Amino acid sequence: MFYKYLIRPILFKIDAEKVHDFAIKIGETYSNSKIIKLFLRKIYYYENKKLEQEVLGIKFNNPLGLAAGFDKNCKLSKIFPEIGFGFMELGSITAKYCGGNKKPRIWRLPKDKAIMVHYGLASDGADKIYGRLKDLKFKIPLIISVAKTNDINIKGDDSVNDYYYSFKKFENIADFITLNISCPNTGDGRSFQDPTLLEKLLKKIGKTNKKIFLKISPDITEKNIDEILLVIKKYNIKGFIIGNLLKKRENLKSTEEDLKGMSGSVSGPVAGKRSLELIKYVYKKTKGKYLIIGCGGIFTAKDAYERIKAGASLIQIVTSMIYEGPSVIKKINKGLVKLLARDKYDNIKEAIGADNII
Ligand SMILES: Cc1cc2nc3c(=O)[nH]c(=O)nc-3n(C[C@H](O)[C@H](O)[C@H](O)COP(=O)(O)O)c2cc1C
Repeated sequence: MFYKYLIRPILFKIDAEKVHDFAIKIGETYSNSKIIKLFLRKIYYYENKKLEQEVLGIKFNNPLGLAAGFDKNCKLSKIFPEIGFGFMELGSITAKYCGGNKKPRIWRLPKDKAIMVHYGLASDGADKIYGRLKDLKFKIPLIISVAKTNDINIKGDDSVNDYYYSFKKFENIADFITLNISCPNTGDGRSFQDPTLLEKLLKKIGKTNKKIFLKISPDITEKNIDEILLVIKKYNIKGFIIGNLLKKRENLKSTEEDLKGMSGSVSGPVAGKRSLELIKYVYKKTKGKYLIIGCGGIFTAKDAYERIKAGASLIQIVTSMIYEGPSVIKKINKGLVKLLARDKYDNIKEAIGADNII
């Protein structure tokens, strides 16, 4: 309430990236302060046994995580556990430094409760970020998202090597690594959702004990998913994050006039609608073989529960936190506990895929 009615109206008058950079700066400044962290924990933290589960051998206190993109350069890993997240995905990190696209490159679309993103994979680069993380201990499970450096001169085998570099760098730091194969802003227009390119990358990674997820785009076709499923049969992929930002500009409430001067892809409920369809598709098609993390447009416990009952074991947010502040994490988790009780489930695990019988 406090954020929504007092803070947000002020923040939303300021350029979106400036506000975001400011939030990161503040968070970074206070991330070593015990008092601030205790204060945050007191306000935002929530736990309930019903939300706890073990996923791929790792314990999650609750199913709601931070999605990639909010903390691209991995500066706030000490803050996210205190505000109640069950896990965090940091990045996407690219092998080389990249300043990203020209500013402005993120815009709010309030009519759609969405963000238009045209960052262009801005990243401090793997080496610098590795230095930031290498000596830290993490309170909640950590996913590192890696993507290809946004440089049109890095193509073909070089782009495979580029991904591989970041993968190797963070292999021993993260609990899980996401290969972000869906970033729509990589410059040369190629995507690792292309099965041939994906296979090259997975071959290069070869044998690893690291649990790997693939993050796919909500713009992807079911046929393309089938091709990916065929490729990954031979490799040790554990799951999918579904999904990334939506490129298609259909079904937006924002008008042409609202969108003037913007480019990029959108987050929020429009992206979430298609992602939900794809969660259902992948869960059914693979008979629940792969772990699914549902992402896109999750603002309420009902949204989260819908993804879980469709087959997602975990869920992630970015946009609802920008629109509603960190209290949305507790709101969703508390609401989930109520929904589980309503449906007479003792634990979140029992609800996974319940509406998508296989
Ligand atoms: C500002 C911004 C930056 C993002 N950057 C990344 C990124 O670097 N890597 C990635 O995999 N997804 C990125 N995303 C996509 C989110 O992780 C998420 O998939 C998408 O926003 C849908 O979830 P939401 O509706 O909860 O925001 C970004 C999203 C936003 C809003």
